Amino acid sequence: MNSTVRTQVAIVGAGPAGLILSHLLAAAGIDSVVIDQRSRDEIEQTIRAGILEQSTIDLLASIPGSRAHTVGLRHDGIELRFDGAGHRIDFPGLAGRSVWLFPQHEALRDLLAARIGAGQDIRFGVTATAVEDASGARPRVVAVDDAGAGLEIEADFVVGADGSHSVVRRAISGSHDGYFREYPFAWFGILCEAPPSADELIYSNSPDGFALISQRSPTVQRMYFQCDPTDDAQAPSDAEIWDTLQKRVPGTTLNEGSIFQRDVLRFRSFVARTLRQGRLAIVGDAAHTVPPTGAKGMNLAVADVVLLARALEALLLRSDEGPLDGWAEAALDRIWKAQHFSWWMTSMLHVAPDATDFDRHRQLGELRSVVESEAGRTYLAEAYTGWPFG
Ligand code: PHB
Repeated sequence: MNSTVRTQVAIVGAGPAGLILSHLLAAAGIDSVVIDQRSRDEIEQTIRAGILEQSTIDLLASIPGSRAHTVGLRHDGIELRFDGAGHRIDFPGLAGRSVWLFPQHEALRDLLAARIGAGQDIRFGVTATAVEDASGARPRVVAVDDAGAGLEIEADFVVGADGSHSVVRRAISGSHDGYFREYPFAWFGILCEAPPSADELIYSNSPDGFALISQRSPTVQRMYFQCDPTDDAQAPSDAEIWDTLQKRVPGTTLNEGSIFQRDVLRFRSFVARTLRQGRLAIVGDAAHTVPPTGAKGMNLAVADVVLLARALEALLLRSDEGPLDGWAEAALDRIWKAQHFSWWMTSMLHVAPDATDFDRHRQLGELRSVVESEAGRTYLAEAYTGWPFG
């Protein structure tokens, strides 16, 4: 059984980018159909980003039913720790804005409830396999559902918000055409049942490697330590994990608790060479990947679709192609700034496996240059809290 639906915008992927785009389009009176290969439960249980920029949280909070301001917690700073001392970066004082700790899966629960409540056509368990007529005025997403039935979505525009293995990216430019960087380390991440060990996040550069002490809720902490990309998340005992973490945050006694999730996160930077071709565009992880050190992933995805929604409004409501023609360049402006920031935080805080004594002393000199200078702290605060959408 095959069926065809027609809509103005076909959105592949019901993560933050796809759902927020469908919301912004609906608010402008533009119809869309969203598909995702995962079930609603799987989407709601994906534990990903935790830190949202001020502009991202303001947008989420404007969506009916949002718990961004009730479940989310405002963070007015972070601590950089190195060479035995902690240095606070005061966000409101330096940049006039803050960030919010609002876990991605909580944001997704709100977004799904809001979109489904508003009557959005969202189809779960539907996998896009190709985009046909990619260079025409009515591109079609070809998909198949979990029961094997075919679905085609014919649209005025197709948006790939379908993550790093994007099918829409393949239709635009071939699957991996872009700019890449691999890093020689990864993060070992845990979730544990214990209250936060500190009021704010701690980014620690220790001689043994990087550690990040983050949070998820008043009773759950998220922590990471730098590891080898080939490490097995199941190999170390809980005691070994705590020993590693405690050693890398000298000066703080971490609250230990039962570890209920462990994972190894690979680090890479990627920007697709072409974000838009004709009536196809890619956003979020389909278009770019950043290492997690700068906490930019979900924020960048949201910024992409805020700009794209404005461009699609001009195209579909006023037949004005101008904003769409400028969209990729405008999105890339922020994407490359965020790529730089994520790379910079990563290289400044991690110990490369082949680091020499020179590299180590230079890195500590760099960290001191940042924290001792108001200009240095201000750059960090502005980039971390995010550039306003404009
Ligand atoms: C997280 O809580 O998962 C988190 C926070 C800050 C980062 C990266 C990850 O820079």
